[in-house]
Amino acid sequence: MVNKQYNITVFPGDGIGTEIMKEALKILRLVADRRKIDIVINEGYIGGSAYDRFGEPLPRQSLDLALQSDAVLLGAVGGQQWESLEYNLRPERALLGLREKLGLYVNLRPVVVFEELLDASPLKREIVRGIDIMIIRELTGDVYFGQPRGVTKDKNGKRKAFNTMVYTEEEISRIAVRAFEIARKRRKNLLSVDKANVLESNELWRSIVSEIGRNYPDVALKHMYVDNCAMQLIRNPAQFDVIVTTNLFGDILSDEAAMLTGSIGMLPSASLGQDKALYEPIHGSAPDIAGKNIANPLATILSVALLLRYTMARPQEADLVEKAVSEVLQDGYRTQDIFQEGKKLVGTEEMGKQTLKKLAGLLN
Ligand code: IPM
Ligand code: MG
Repeated sequence: MVNKQYNITVFPGDGIGTEIMKEALKILRLVADRRKIDIVINEGYIGGSAYDRFGEPLPRQSLDLALQSDAVLLGAVGGQQWESLEYNLRPERALLGLREKLGLYVNLRPVVVFEELLDASPLKREIVRGIDIMIIRELTGDVYFGQPRGVTKDKNGKRKAFNTMVYTEEEISRIAVRAFEIARKRRKNLLSVDKANVLESNELWRSIVSEIGRNYPDVALKHMYVDNCAMQLIRNPAQFDVIVTTNLFGDILSDEAAMLTGSIGMLPSASLGQDKALYEPIHGSAPDIAGKNIANPLATILSVALLLRYTMARPQEADLVEKAVSEVLQDGYRTQDIFQEGKKLVGTEEMGKQTLKKLAGLLN
C-alpha cells in the first residue's frame, strides 16, 4: 500500500506566532521522520502580516493553500496596529474566514491541568486537581455567522446594530453526533449547555441534542443553562467530562475554563470539518512579548499532538508528544508565563529543544 501523503499548511500569523511555530514544526518533523509519515509543509500568510503584504487578512493564495491541505497549523493572529482597521480587514476575520470556508464546525478545546502546574491556577489546588474537560464548541453557526446582521440608521441618524442568533436542525445534529462519539471514548458524560429558557434557537438545540442522545444510551446526557455552567466551572470544575455548546457560549466558557488551569499558554485546540482541520494554540498573538524568545511554545506543540491524533490517526504518537511535554515540566523547565521559584526559567527555543530531546527518546 502506498503511504498517504499529508499536506500541511502552516500559518505562523502575527506576534509570537513565528517563534512558537518554529518549535512546533521541529516536533512535527521529528515524528514524521521517525515514523516515516510522508508530510509536505507549505507556509503562508494570514492575519495582520497578510494584511501588511497583500492588503487583506486572508488572501486568496492563503485560502487556496488551506483548501488544498489536509490540515492547517496556525500560530496566532492580531495586534494593536490592526485594531482600527475596518471590520473586514482585521486579522480576526482570517480565522472566521478559514472556519467558514473549510467548514470547520467542530471546535475541540481540551482543558487539562498538569499536576506540575497546579499552583499556577488562581483556584485552590483541591478544586482544580485532576481537571480533564473536553469543551466542544459549535464553530460555524450562531450569531457569529447568522444573517441578517449589520448597522442601520433611522431617519434621525440614530444607529441600530443587530445580529441574528440562528441554528438549523442539521447544524445541531451534526455537532451533537460528534459530541456523543467523543463522550463515548471518554468517561461517557455529556453536558449540553444552552439558554433554552430564553432563546428559541437554544430550545431547538436542546431538543435536537436530546433526540440524538437516544442513539447513545451508553452516554449519560445532561443539560445546563449557560449562566449556571459559568458558575459551576468555578465552584466544582471536576464534575465536567465533555461539554457541548453553541458558538458564542463556547467562546466564553472556553476562556473561563482555560483560566482554571492558570496557564493559557499550555492549551491547544482543534477545529474539525468533514475532511479538513485546523490546529492552533488557544492563546493569542501576545504582541508585547513577540520577538523576545520568551513565549511558551507548549500549546502549539500540544496542537501538533492533536494534529497527529485527529488528522493522521496516530494516537500513540500524539500521546508521546503529550508525555514529552509533561516530562519536561517534571524536569522543572518553565517559560516565564508558568514560572515559579525554584524552577528553571527558559526561553522559547530552549523549551522547544528540551521537548524535542524528550520526544526523541520516547520515539525510540
Ligand atoms: C476564539 C477567539 C475568536 C472567536 C476571535 C479571535 C474571533 O476568541 O477563537 O475563541 O471569537 O471565536
Ligand atoms: Mg475566544
